[in-house]
Amino acid sequence: MRDHLVIWVNGTRRVVGGGDAFLTLSDYLRGRLGLVGTKVMCAEGDCGACTVLVAEPVEQGRPRFLPIDSCIRFLFQLDGCHVVTVEGLARDGRLAPVQQAMVECHGSQCGFCTPGFVMALAGACHAKGAAREVDWPKELSGNLCRCTGYVSIFEAAERAGGEADWIGARFADDTWMTEGGRLRTESIDVRGACDGVAMRVTSPATRDEALAARRDADARVVAGATDLGVLWNKGRLRPQHWLDLSRVTGLRGLCVEDAATGPVLVAGPLASWTDMLAVCRERCGEAVAVLESFGGPQIRHVGTLGGNIVNGSPIADSLPLLFVLEATLELARASGTRDVPIESFFRGYKQLDLAPDELLVKVRMPLPGSDDVLRLVKVSRRRDLDISTFTSAILVRRTGDRIAAARIAYGGVGPTVVRMRRTEAALVGQLFVEETFRRAGDVAVAEIRPLSDVRGTSAFRLQLARNVLLRFFHEQLVGAG
Ligand SMILES: Cc1cc2nc3c(=O)[nH]c(=O)nc-3n(C[C@H](O)[C@H](O)[C@H](O)COP(=O)(O)OP(=O)(O)OC[C@H]3O[C@@H](n4cnc5c(N)ncnc54)[C@H](O)[C@@H]3O)c2cc1C
Ligand code: FES
Ligand code: FES
Repeated sequence: MRDHLVIWVNGTRRVVGGGDAFLTLSDYLRGRLGLVGTKVMCAEGDCGACTVLVAEPVEQGRPRFLPIDSCIRFLFQLDGCHVVTVEGLARDGRLAPVQQAMVECHGSQCGFCTPGFVMALAGACHAKGAAREVDWPKELSGNLCRCTGYVSIFEAAERAGGEADWIGARFADDTWMTEGGRLRTESIDVRGACDGVAMRVTSPATRDEALAARRDADARVVAGATDLGVLWNKGRLRPQHWLDLSRVTGLRGLCVEDAATGPVLVAGPLASWTDMLAVCRERCGEAVAVLESFGGPQIRHVGTLGGNIVNGSPIADSLPLLFVLEATLELARASGTRDVPIESFFRGYKQLDLAPDELLVKVRMPLPGSDDVLRLVKVSRRRDLDISTFTSAILVRRTGDRIAAARIAYGGVGPTVVRMRRTEAALVGQLFVEETFRRAGDVAVAEIRPLSDVRGTSAFRLQLARNVLLRFFHEQLVGAG
């Protein structure tokens, strides 16, 4: 077991040991390396001011330098990785293309958000290559600016967007790739004091090691840290032992298997939302719009499917979909595995059917059949980078003019996501007409008791519970011409 981390920052190899391993990346960059170009405003992943690029070494192909929020990423998650900050962009006294474009288009006023926008832009240019159309408002939805009004920033994006991939050419060097690749196959166990508290992180490289480490029931599992990093920054979480799964490659895979009942999307819990989005574009197009509104790019690049499930929020965006797909969770401990249907995994608000020594290791999602119609709706106060007020997934199969099967799940209407069994029963066997969906709406509002909170009143959520059913019906009419 290695007792220290090795990280590359703007091409320079850094060794980190002891308590520094538990710093957030932004604290390390600013406080230890003096790279204060990386700004911290919200410290919650919301504003993107702290955006940097991070790449893992890859055996084949080119590494992906992805924009992430450095304020909610722990240093121990980055062993073997390459971090590029705004200080790494200019070369030989010349600004990088994205910086030059921001200057020429007047994309900065007070400048506090500017390094974050520049890094998000640099990451988007690197990801997309030279010749393409990019939806810049979407690409930059993880960054907030309170001065410019965005138009000049989007103009800068258009101007910089035509440049070749200079990030890859500059930072994907063989020395880092070779050593970093080897480092990421080694397990690490680092101890040190952070804020005066003795801490330890175990970062296994294999699933078996991860399950063995899980025997310490007090070890706090961390995947992408987009939920836990926020709690850490708010001082609401100080585990003495972290179990970091981010390097267990066996928990990441994503594939579609052909089962007797039809295709099944099989995902490791560490599948990021960016990777889920790529698969859904091919195999489950209806999920795309909701996944594209999941956080911003910085959150989607590191936030994981497993983290969203185990975090257990009743407004988690993945859950209504997983409920209507009747997904199965594979839970493992050192002595064996068991399968749990998604619906019975949630026993109450943040109460899970997950033992202290278990890990979520696989998620199986049977994909909709060709006769199924699936619709997902996310209602939030902001269109981008906002958590949901209400979520729904409706899956209906028709036979002729009647409804043969229906599965419905709502989020944000109770302590857990709710499978709307009585509403489903009100639809099945009925004619596919507006009146059927109107009556199902009456059943739906009797089936849930939503709370009022800052995101919406109970009455608003009840109205949404009716409206999504009617919307589903009318969208099918329009779709049928
Ligand atoms: C700015 C911002 C925007 C966001 N937007 C959205 C949004 O639009 N929709 C939405 O649903 N969520 C959103 N989130 C919440 C978060 O990004 C998601 O819940 C994400 O999927 C969590 O994944 P993670 O890997 O980061 O989890 P982590 O923070 O690493 O972990 C979350 C929980 O899961 C546990 N855990 C993780 N993996 C496992 C495992 N394999 N086995 C057992 N336990 C495990 C951890 O112990 C922890 O309790 C947002 C968060 C932020 C900060
Ligand atoms: S400081 Fe706002 S996202 Fe990190
Ligand atoms: S330039 Fe001031 S916040 Fe963006």
